[in-house]
Amino acid sequence: MATPKLLLCFLLFSLLAGHRAVHGSSHHHHHHHHHHHHHHHHHRHSSRSHEEPTYAFKATKLFVFGDSYADTGNNKKSEASSWRVPYGVTFPGKPAGRFSDGRVFTDFLAKFLGVKSPIPYQWWKKVNSTHLKYGMNFAYGGTGVFDTLSSDPNMTVQIDYFQRLIGDSVYTAADVHSSVALLTNSGNDYSAYTARNGSLEDMPAFMTEVVSQLAVNLERVYTLGVRKIAVAALQPLGCLPRSSYVTSFQKCNDTVNSLVGFHNQLLKQAVDKLNNETSPSTFVIVDLYSAFTSVFENTENSTFENPLKPCCVGVGSEYSCGSVDADGTKKYTVCEDPAGFFFWDMVHPSQAGWRAVYSTLGPNLDQL
Ligand SMILES: *[C@@H]1O[C@H](CO)[C@@H](O)[C@H](O)[C@H]1NC(C)=O
Ligand SMILES: *[C@@H]1O[C@H](CO)[C@@H](O)[C@H](O)[C@H]1NC(C)=O
Ligand SMILES: *[C@@H]1O[C@H](CO)[C@@H](O)[C@H](O)[C@H]1NC(C)=O
Ligand SMILES: *[C@@H]1O[C@H](CO)[C@@H](O)[C@H](O)[C@H]1NC(C)=O
Ligand SMILES: *[C@@H]1O[C@H](CO)[C@@H](O)[C@H](O)[C@H]1NC(C)=O
Ligand SMILES: *[C@@H]1O[C@H](CO)[C@@H](O)[C@H](O)[C@H]1NC(C)=O
Repeated sequence: MATPKLLLCFLLFSLLAGHRAVHGSSHHHHHHHHHHHHHHHHHRHSSRSHEEPTYAFKATKLFVFGDSYADTGNNKKSEASSWRVPYGVTFPGKPAGRFSDGRVFTDFLAKFLGVKSPIPYQWWKKVNSTHLKYGMNFAYGGTGVFDTLSSDPNMTVQIDYFQRLIGDSVYTAADVHSSVALLTNSGNDYSAYTARNGSLEDMPAFMTEVVSQLAVNLERVYTLGVRKIAVAALQPLGCLPRSSYVTSFQKCNDTVNSLVGFHNQLLKQAVDKLNNETSPSTFVIVDLYSAFTSVFENTENSTFENPLKPCCVGVGSEYSCGSVDADGTKKYTVCEDPAGFFFWDMVHPSQAGWRAVYSTLGPNLDQL
């Protein structure tokens, strides 16, 4: 494993608005519409039931905990960039609380499971209860397993909300039993640690703490009755535009990625242990690391001219995608066709990026 010193510039994963933007420019892309067909995997349960006619599990609901890779609208409108133009431009056509031009990972996972994307927790009391039938999304952009720079609820509190809804019989034991849970932990704990000048020597120990807390959370979701629990491996943080902009989006930072490898190794150990203690297929790692990497490496068939280059960037270090100045003047540039970009902004995939990740994950998701 690389030395902790390399974490010095660990990415600040503040997914909230404004501050901490990074230099970058969006040189207007060429219109290369490679007409390669997206490989839409349709791993429907019906196809699996062919293999497992007796035990096929059909999820009826999806419950989601985590951060911006999964949030579909929990962040506060007044604070989060996800509620600003041009977020949501592809889907639903206006800003709607997703950190992308369109759909995020939760939406693709819901589609895979054959349910609608679950409603964000913050709306649950305001809508007709029929909207609760596909589960609920408790993920808040910017959060981690521990408290981060965001004031939104950490994952423990998100699970508290879920537990309360079960206690109040909003969801029954049978509902919970027939559901899938997704937990994402995309790096905000590490960004916060670095921003707070956490000591480099203690970084590996901190990674161990993060993964231990994540394991506690996984076990808690199991104890609440969920029997299929997906947890996202950490994506290659060193390939995020925030990290690759120093090479004009040409190269991933391998030293950062090897640290991410340590987190993922710890996560695998924790999940193996949990599966050993429960049953072998309860906990499933959704390997975002491999999925991102395989999309980046598939240059031959890629729809992305340069998969490391983002669509939407601030015009200078003090701005980010969605920034406007006091007069309301745009302080960002946005590409014409987000479908040609893997990344939407400095840290988040575009809808097309998530679709490519989802396609690559196919066999991995079959474990759910
Ligand atoms: C890679 O990331 C490390 C840790 O943040 C940093 O020290 C190093 O300068 C980066 N390398 C490049 C080429 O950006
Ligand atoms: C909720 O939606 C259902 C189905 O559309 C409808 O029958 C019911 O009246 C609605 N309930 C309320 C409180 O609006
Ligand atoms: C999560 O947030 C709650 C409320 O702020 C806090 O009491 C708790 O210590 C936090 N949990 C972790 C694991 O950081
Ligand atoms: C971290 O260190 C920098 C530079 O030494 C300092 O300016 C900043 O206030 C420190 N931040 C915290 C949260 O301690
Ligand atoms: C599984 O659990 C048993 C009993 O708790 C333990 O003896 C065994 O070493 C564990 N195996 C693995 C692979 O962790
Ligand atoms: C690219 O697509 C062709 C045709 O579908 C396929 O044969 C080839 O294996 C693909 N290459 C990669 C690197 O996926």
